Amino acid sequence: MRIPWSEEMMIGHLLLDSDHEHIVALVNELNDTVSNCANRGLLVNKYCQIIDCLGEHFTREEHIMISSKYPEADCHRKAHWYLFDQLTKMTYLLESNAPMAEKNIITFLNEWFFQHVMISDKKLAAHLLGQQ
Ligand SMILES: [Fe+2]
Ligand SMILES: [Fe+2]
Repeated sequence: MRIPWSEEMMIGHLLLDSDHEHIVALVNELNDTVSNCANRGLLVNKYCQIIDCLGEHFTREEHIMISSKYPEADCHRKAHWYLFDQLTKMTYLLESNAPMAEKNIITFLNEWFFQHVMISDKKLAAHLLGQQ
């Protein structure tokens, strides 16, 4: 399932929106790779690229939370690293050719990421806006 990037997903922070758009593009690419029945090695590479990108993005977002004294930073940070941990653990499913692994991972990633941006990241953006 592809997630089309839309204005609805924008939180109003240039840098974070650009990260989110890039991550959505990478997840869509992974989805296309699965649909085109590409080999597992290529899938694992693309998947690891997403994990790396998410790691960088989470770190960037957390720096912003700390520097802006965001009161919900702890909870938000925990949510990030929960996802990161889950996705890292799922790598073995792809590597071990588990049936339906790629579809399940994409569904999990799409749902989690969309919800997180729409709720948690938008809350952070509202806090940043209030500081201007
Ligand atoms: Fe976040
Ligand atoms: Fe984010």
